[in-house]
Amino acid sequence: MHMHRYEKWWLVFGTGSLVVFLFILGISAFHQGHTPPSAKAFVNHEQVDKIAPFNEPGLKKVEGKDWDYELVVLASAFFYNPGEVEIPKGSKVKVIATSKDVVHGFGVAGTNINMMLEPGYISEYVTTLDKAGEYLVVCNEYCGTGHHTMKSMIKVVD
Ligand code: CUA
Repeated sequence: MHMHRYEKWWLVFGTGSLVVFLFILGISAFHQGHTPPSAKAFVNHEQVDKIAPFNEPGLKKVEGKDWDYELVVLASAFFYNPGEVEIPKGSKVKVIATSKDVVHGFGVAGTNINMMLEPGYISEYVTTLDKAGEYLVVCNEYCGTGHHTMKSMIKVVD
């Protein structure tokens, strides 16, 4: 069959646009799907308990930084390490967190902390905790049978 050359051109153009479109779609899906918005760095999640700072989860006072404390959190099915932490009221805290296994959430009720923790990525968030109280940390990413029991507590104390 003889094709009119304009038809042929449109066929090539159409196919070409489709390929470009799928390529862009693939790229953006990859970026959105694999990099949590709060992720700043990478870590080998299989070795994460041996790699600083995740070898020592917990709260640390820091000097010479824009924040007063660093709260290092290691999440795994179905708990957080540390399970409970006390932070002095008014502290500026940098939360540094990751997951050892699957995707978990780190949402602190009553604050603006709401992160997605993905194995292999380090998520960070800086905030000031200026209201005393007990803040429940919940996992807001479905992570398995124990998902609904996955909790920890941040106590902001005077
Ligand atoms: Cu961890 Cu849901």
